[in-house]
Amino acid sequence: MELEKVQDIASAVLAAGTLPAQFIRQETEQPGITTVKGQTLAVPVVDFSNPDQHSVIQAIDDASRHWGMFQIINHNIPNEAIAHLQAVGKEFFELPTEEKEVYAKPPGSKSVEGYGTKLQKEVGGKKDWVDHLFHIIWPPSAINFKFWPQKPPSYRAANEEYRKHLHGVVDKLFRSLSLGLGLEEHELKQSSGGDDLVYLMKINYYPPCPRPDLALGVAPHTDMSVITILVPNDVQGLQAFKDGHWYDVNYIPNALVIHIGDQIEILSNGKYKSVLHRTTVNKEKARISWPVFLEPPAEFEVGPHPKLVNEDNPPKFKTKKYGEYAYCKLNKIPQ
Ligand code: SIN
Ligand code: FE2
Repeated sequence: MELEKVQDIASAVLAAGTLPAQFIRQETEQPGITTVKGQTLAVPVVDFSNPDQHSVIQAIDDASRHWGMFQIINHNIPNEAIAHLQAVGKEFFELPTEEKEVYAKPPGSKSVEGYGTKLQKEVGGKKDWVDHLFHIIWPPSAINFKFWPQKPPSYRAANEEYRKHLHGVVDKLFRSLSLGLGLEEHELKQSSGGDDLVYLMKINYYPPCPRPDLALGVAPHTDMSVITILVPNDVQGLQAFKDGHWYDVNYIPNALVIHIGDQIEILSNGKYKSVLHRTTVNKEKARISWPVFLEPPAEFEVGPHPKLVNEDNPPKFKTKKYGEYAYCKLNKIPQ
């Protein structure tokens, strides 16, 4: 039988040390050749405990204009809540494939929810060295518990605990970004789906890879979300494209990695940039990451905010339903 999950392929090839051809990137993409060596990228760090709100807003504004990403420290999510989220996700991925398949994305399903691996290949026919699990964690009306693992038993409690703490970070991020753009503090969230904003949890599981110099975990992309809030495990792997080169992003334990997504680039009419990023993999260790994508509901329309366009600064992007944007992006149809 042909193996489908990267985790099973990894177990089959790791001892031999050879990487199947479908994972070998072209030289122009190989991380061994295209990564700037000996230097990690110090992406801006924003300290959420800073009592000077003005300087927090400024730091976020600057990072969103020039980097499209930043890391948040002292965010008020207890380290234990992050550790618990990570432990249950790791335990789930360490179950045998048959047990994980119970949560598989149903064939033909329009939603991304469920366990799986990306089956369509990237341009150039290459596959990413990663499996995943997607499930919505908020709002309650959008949650489908059939995609939440029942093993380990505390999976649900850990995700609910993390989500509870996440709300404070989400609200502060939206308020700060909104003020940075010159809007009223509630306006950016309102234009991103308001109270219907969806929190989509993803776990990326990157098994050990026999040739991390030749493969990519996730190929270069920008996130289509409004904002992505991510915690990785302690295995280095996130890279960002800056000034024409790929750099490792510095890992800060328990920091939240924030990606400005395409929807903020659109809402801000290009003032804030979604960050181009990719991931590398490790020869000995599994890398795991937990991004939460903040997304408008599919029927919600997003376009440049009316207050951020005028005659001198006309809209640079179309206004369209988020579902349509996502469909075009996934099928590589020009927006
Ligand atoms: C992604 O951007 O899709 C994954 C990022 C990560 O694993 O750090
Ligand atoms: Fe991403």
